[in-house]
Amino acid sequence: MCGIIGYIGYQEACPVLLKGLHRLEYRGYDSAGLALNDGSCNLRIYKCKGRVSELENFLQGKDISGTIGIAHTRWATHGVPDNVNAHPHESQSGNIVLVHNGIIENYALLKEVLSSNGYVFKSSTDSEVLVNLIEYVKNTNGCSLLEATRQALRQVVGAYAIAVMEKNDPDHIIAARQSSPLAIGIGKGEYFLCSDAASIIEHTRDFVYIDDGEMAVISRNEDLKVLKLDNSEGKINVRKLELSISQLEKGGYPHFMLKEINEQPRTITDCIRGRIDVGNMNVTLSGFTFNKEKFLNAERIIFVACGTSWHASLIGEHLIEDLCRIPVEVEYASEFRYRNPVIRKNDIVIAVSQSGETADTLAAIEIAKKSGAFVYGICNVVGSSIARATDSGTYIHVGPEIGVASTKAFTGQVTVMAMLALAIGQAKGTISGEDFHRIVRELHNMPETIAETLKSSERIADLAKIFTYARNFIYLGRGYNYPTALEGALKLKEISYIHAEGYPAAEMKHGPIALIDTEMPVVAIATPDHTYDKTASNIEEVKTRGGRILAIVSKDDRHIRRIADYCIDVPVISECLMPLVVSIPLQLLAYHIAVYKGMDVDRPRNLAKSVTVE
Ligand code: AGP
Repeated sequence: MCGIIGYIGYQEACPVLLKGLHRLEYRGYDSAGLALNDGSCNLRIYKCKGRVSELENFLQGKDISGTIGIAHTRWATHGVPDNVNAHPHESQSGNIVLVHNGIIENYALLKEVLSSNGYVFKSSTDSEVLVNLIEYVKNTNGCSLLEATRQALRQVVGAYAIAVMEKNDPDHIIAARQSSPLAIGIGKGEYFLCSDAASIIEHTRDFVYIDDGEMAVISRNEDLKVLKLDNSEGKINVRKLELSISQLEKGGYPHFMLKEINEQPRTITDCIRGRIDVGNMNVTLSGFTFNKEKFLNAERIIFVACGTSWHASLIGEHLIEDLCRIPVEVEYASEFRYRNPVIRKNDIVIAVSQSGETADTLAAIEIAKKSGAFVYGICNVVGSSIARATDSGTYIHVGPEIGVASTKAFTGQVTVMAMLALAIGQAKGTISGEDFHRIVRELHNMPETIAETLKSSERIADLAKIFTYARNFIYLGRGYNYPTALEGALKLKEISYIHAEGYPAAEMKHGPIALIDTEMPVVAIATPDHTYDKTASNIEEVKTRGGRILAIVSKDDRHIRRIADYCIDVPVISECLMPLVVSIPLQLLAYHIAVYKGMDVDRPRNLAKSVTVE
């Protein structure tokens, strides 16, 4: 994962880099560092374990002058998070310095070769191997830094976004990308490089996204050059980033996660805007319209995704099978990519990803494309690698999601899947007019429905106090709400570090019921649907064994209210849209429990927002 950033221009680089690193911290936050050159070949590296704020403290009183620099915030892969393994890494002579996001898979082999040529390594990282490889190639061939980097990268197997500088050259940064994001920001008389364009939007809105196998030569007072690893010229396509700074700030909330939960009435409005026309009873998704025949002829749809996006895809499976009668499979991208999946010509592969940068999902897309399938993306980040790698798709348009635990992206993904299922179902004639009209109206009203659901926040905060010291949780749901239960459990695990499992309610008696005792809280989703009575019986089974039940029910519920210890009321709409409603109290429950436990809700331990390594 990790975030990289670089600057060359007329401003002091350090403040630009530090501000950018703060914005990139969602990508990893176990150590941070930067390298600056003051123009008289005085290259200084400052780095330390911990967050960017600790780096800022460490920089107090140090010489931080210089109008060129590169910086890094780390999510450790090779080597523990400490000062030595923190980036930037310098070459053995100290002449070349590098920051790297990704994994060099053949680093052990390269390290052996370098060791036999006299190189000694200070850190345990794969990145230090790469900077020394560049130096070795440069010294052996007597070539420029650009040429040495190009030749070194041709020997590398793995993923990288890198930025490299040389001690005696304060006018150039070389950057390159393979499977890890990299954008170059173009200002007036200055350039920026970064893992995520949002990290530098105060400075520029004009970006060139570097593609896999490309290198960028960023020079003071010269035009940007893009080269491919085979030395041919790459295209420079400048794109405008539409984003406001306020979207990247907390807006008065104590955490991004709480802000993002509360934003959902607005983010759903943005997601359905121009797509749901309740007057004419139309659902228009341009990605579907332009590829209608493909969807109508699809023999099967395969979702590939990870984490929360995988849970949303399980809901997509229900929606498409119910409303379109097309068989659907949902695959973990990480499993799909390493087996030998049967993909047929008339299959559609839908890749779902908030960040659009998840390495496993990107690799699954490549496999699907090689097999000739049409690949559709459901992404949030505009211009991301997955958005660019897919044949067509739909953006969820929920704005930047900064809290590591995904909330508004989940509801945005499910909303897009509901619209896609409605559009396909209508075109295929597999959904009745009555159902179509009802679901379209409910989607149109979804922002108000979610606003209504959010009103239970205080009640949920009170309930959270009761459960703060639980060590395990079980989440139960059936049908559309089985994936919602999985997502609720994931939210709790991620930010409160409480062990939690989601199960289909009826599956309990096949094993997990053995875990039930008076210490075990069970969150049961029991809203009215066609399995309500069955779910009620499953809850009775838990109650009989002493489990403590927190049920999500409709306001009018009488039956489960009598069995459950605690209830949270939610508005009731069509079964196929209930995950959008039910996920709200589950997000709030996880949030409030984590806050009571004093956890770092937005940056939970060991996690990063964007998983760009496999
Ligand atoms: C969600 O809360 C997680 N942090 C994580 O599971 C995430 O959904 C997963 O890594 C996939 O990310 P993506 O949607 O950006 O591809």
